[in-house]
Amino acid sequence: MAHPAENPLLEGLRVRRTPESFALTIFGASGDLTQRKLIPALYSLAYNDYLPDRFAIVGAARTELSDEAFRERMRAAVEAHGREEFRTDVWERLAAGMRYVSTDFADENESRLADRLAELDDEIGTRGNRVFYLAVPPDAIATITTALGKRRTNAGWTRLIVEKPFGSDLESARVLNERISRHFREDEIYRIDHYLGKETVQNMLVLRFANGIFEPIWNRQFVDHVQITVAEAIGIEGRSVFYEQAGAIRDIVQNHLLQLLALTAMEPPIEFSAEAVRNEKVKVLRAVRTPGPSEVERGQYAAGYVEGKAVPGYRDEPGVAPDSLTETYVAAKLSIDNWRWADTPFYIRAGKRLARRETAIAIQFKRVPHPLFGAQAVAGLRPNVLLIHVQPDEGVSLAVGAKVPGQGLTIQNVHMDFLYGGAFRTGLPEAYERLILDCLLGDATLFTRADEIEEQWALVDSMIATWQRERPVFPNYAAGTWGPAAADELLHRDGRSWRRH
Ligand code: BG6
Repeated sequence: MAHPAENPLLEGLRVRRTPESFALTIFGASGDLTQRKLIPALYSLAYNDYLPDRFAIVGAARTELSDEAFRERMRAAVEAHGREEFRTDVWERLAAGMRYVSTDFADENESRLADRLAELDDEIGTRGNRVFYLAVPPDAIATITTALGKRRTNAGWTRLIVEKPFGSDLESARVLNERISRHFREDEIYRIDHYLGKETVQNMLVLRFANGIFEPIWNRQFVDHVQITVAEAIGIEGRSVFYEQAGAIRDIVQNHLLQLLALTAMEPPIEFSAEAVRNEKVKVLRAVRTPGPSEVERGQYAAGYVEGKAVPGYRDEPGVAPDSLTETYVAAKLSIDNWRWADTPFYIRAGKRLARRETAIAIQFKRVPHPLFGAQAVAGLRPNVLLIHVQPDEGVSLAVGAKVPGQGLTIQNVHMDFLYGGAFRTGLPEAYERLILDCLLGDATLFTRADEIEEQWALVDSMIATWQRERPVFPNYAAGTWGPAAADELLHRDGRSWRRH
């Protein structure tokens, strides 16, 4: 992939964004996320020259490990998962400030990390600026934040990045917010949802609010309904302990999917600032009506074929109970009770082991009011759809009716397409690159605020409550299909159907 500086299409378009010196501590440094996403993202930031001259990256975990052994592991992680080519000079710049601290946060008297960070202030010049990245299970977050809070320094700034899952229901999310707020101000807390770091998700705001043509028709008068799909072909990838507790609703709907919904449905913010954008997202989440029992469907996959490969059913995945009732698929019809969206349903679905990976937002417009062309001419015509391809094949396309060339009159749908790859000829940055850099710069626009996360949980809790009345009959869809029949029914009842792909 071309280095941005070498891509003539991007020349002069890059905005320099260099943070102040900092020390970034990653808790959960031996975990998967650190190796697959966080360190490769930091490498990309270094590669593309976004990091300041002076910075430190500190891995923190219980295991004993030397600085050298930690660097070796992280180097292997960059080589295996990096988006850019591996360059020794870039790696050495990154590795120079890399340290490892073995620490047990349950022990109140332990000060190893604080001491090490103070040393780094002198040695590297990190000036008391601290970012703590909490890539740990939720039950460890409160303990770690309390310990960090007690040893806060007065020099520089301190920021916390908190990974999902943020609680497991409204109550636990509230408790967590409260515990963290004892030591950190809201503007120091960065609750991460990596979907907000995806280029295409940010482009949603640009599409809506930097173009004059969409906003006037972005409402109940012109839009028939909206479909939001987060489909994955992968299964649970060895994460049974987490997934058995979470299921699709907590893993995807509560965070990623509701973020997509909020960005699609929110009102225009008064400015592009963290508070203004998040105020609008919270408002629209608050306007989502509690769905009734017939408006939420769930599923669990049986064995099947995904992309030509035989895969086991969910209950046969290692670590999953043979009679598990955990859902791997959720679909719902959500109504937003406000002036813009009254009577315009938002159908959402998320699932694992579906036919293929696709995250998309489809805005389906109403049909023309008067059928000018004969029934035969319009037989192949479907309503206009603005499709935002979040991934893969990132881009936006608009389906319009066009005349099929020839003497007769037949109308068919064609697509006006914008594809990132074609328009900008550059690879898209990984979401974590954007989000880590934003946090280093103190910009919380793409992070979830306390009240926002609580609204998300309130809605998810209400969805879970609707289905707790009945015991599901699982499994109810074969891996490699588009989910259970009941989810199709959900739309058929309204005379609609899920977009086929
Ligand atoms: C994570 C979920 O948050 O998002 C995973 O825990 C899921 O289950 C992943 O696979 C999807 O992310 P992406 O960026 O691949 O769409």
